[in-house]
Amino acid sequence: MSHVLAAVAWPYANGPRHIGHVSGFGVPSDVFSRYMRMAGHDVLMVSGTDEHGTPILVEAEKEGVTPQALADRFNRVIVEDLTALGLSYDLFTRTTTRNHYHVAQELFKVVHANGYMIEQTTHGAISPSTGRTLPDRFIEGTCPICGYDSARGDQCDNCGNQLDPQDLINPKSRINGETPEFIETQHYFLDLPALADQLGDWLRSREGWRPNVLKFSLNLLDDVRPRAMTRDIDWGIPVPLPGWEDNPAKRLYVWFDAVIGYFSASVEWSRRTGKDLSEWWNSPEARSYYFMGKDNITFHSQIWPAELLAYNANPGEYGKLNLPTEVVSSEYLTVEGKKFSSSRRVVIYVRDFLDRYGPDALRYYIAVAGPESTDTNFTWAEFLRRNNDELVAGWGNLVNRTLALTAKNFGEIPAPAALSEEDEALLATVRGAFATVGEHIGNHRQKLAINEAMRVVGEANKYLSDQAPWKIKDNPERLGTILHTVLQAINDSNTLLTPFLPHSSQKIFELLGGQGVHAPMPQIEEAEDLDGGPGYPIITGDYTQGTKWESTPITVGTKIEAPTPVFRKLDPSIVDEELARFES
Ligand code: MF3
Ligand code: ZN
Repeated sequence: MSHVLAAVAWPYANGPRHIGHVSGFGVPSDVFSRYMRMAGHDVLMVSGTDEHGTPILVEAEKEGVTPQALADRFNRVIVEDLTALGLSYDLFTRTTTRNHYHVAQELFKVVHANGYMIEQTTHGAISPSTGRTLPDRFIEGTCPICGYDSARGDQCDNCGNQLDPQDLINPKSRINGETPEFIETQHYFLDLPALADQLGDWLRSREGWRPNVLKFSLNLLDDVRPRAMTRDIDWGIPVPLPGWEDNPAKRLYVWFDAVIGYFSASVEWSRRTGKDLSEWWNSPEARSYYFMGKDNITFHSQIWPAELLAYNANPGEYGKLNLPTEVVSSEYLTVEGKKFSSSRRVVIYVRDFLDRYGPDALRYYIAVAGPESTDTNFTWAEFLRRNNDELVAGWGNLVNRTLALTAKNFGEIPAPAALSEEDEALLATVRGAFATVGEHIGNHRQKLAINEAMRVVGEANKYLSDQAPWKIKDNPERLGTILHTVLQAINDSNTLLTPFLPHSSQKIFELLGGQGVHAPMPQIEEAEDLDGGPGYPIITGDYTQGTKWESTPITVGTKIEAPTPVFRKLDPSIVDEELARFES
């Protein structure tokens, strides 16, 4: 047993999240955390909404509300959606809590005291027509590294490199197209060159990372420059240094504080539960896995480790903090061949999807056909096929047929007589799958894992067809043995599928006569701010109950009733219906 931190990327609270977002950070982190808990590990899964920086400010201005009001609104929407999807956070909080401000400022102060935050004069952009500061991401131009012509001032979405707006060739304001004026301004820079050797040593000692992610991260070290960790902006965390603290126009860079969220959320969790967080953050045995989409890699394999190394050089009150064991990044999801775009209405919101098809249909699709290690395209036709042919016809049907036959012939789980070779073979396949499926999930190969679990389901279906219990007329002993064998296979397959399909696995557990919690679910709680700030909703849960990752024997004599279907077969007309929504 060990301590495992599941650090899940923080969604911006500037709008509802779409299925591309949850395919990157959401479902993979939950599958992993659920499996690790079932396998007996002490998992701490944390995240929250990312509420600072220009993404929030710009949207708030567009709507004519304060950034805090905007963040409050979408924090709640996101909390509701992620809960409905069944994501089992120990704590999902937000970056506007007093706790987070305190922890982020504390880290900044120590990094500064350790000599890794250097003050430099730099060029800031202002709009010549209004005189206001132009946020980095509101400047667009040609990427100096790859030549992409709509790179943003903070990052190039084509090559993934971080940029400064004055690096752009031919910079333009995205608000009105004018050429920004660069003025002199003071900022604090994280001294990445001074940390580059340590970062390189750390990266080169990583094992088992997805090759794309490791290669990308190592490449970043070819061109390390100091990175500004403060901004000319009035929304964010004040810079905790004399002369800066009271300056309303200077704030910490949103990415500086957001990655600290992993730690501050753990502090908040520890303060709320009274549990010791050093097991996850200070113990050298602890492991930490960071889940995200690939546009976040730089911040997790360079900026965050650099902040930690700089803090650890002479740590403050939190002691020496662990660097990530692994940065687990997904690739991009496109939809019907296009990039997601809320403004162009090429988007499928999590909420709409859940309302129409339920959480496990989405979780299944993401696990089996999501962008785990290559860019992947979502289509409604493929969703329909996966749902109907695999989830409904494969798994749902096995459960239905078997339970209906059992209810009709016995009304309870029948006792087995002597097992045939075929019976033994099926049971051995199922038992053997715990090791393979578990290993794949542990290694972040979730597609292999779910395919293996579904292969077992296929074996059970084949067994049922071969044995054809519905044809057995005068041999209740053999009939009982076959049904007992399939019921045992279903029970264990259900456990194997639990990390992927927690909602339906709870139902199937109950159909098999199980009582209590099989797959624990997250809950929304209206929490008080620990330091006197305004209250806010959190996601949390008690995940200590639940079925373990092992074959569990079914109990002869357990009552079995005729089942109602657990999965819903979708009408092919949904494909056209959904496609029409894009165009409307
Ligand atoms: N808000 C960022 C995004 O949506 C992710 C931040 S991850 C964090 O891309 F951990 F740094 F917060
Ligand atoms: Zn580029």
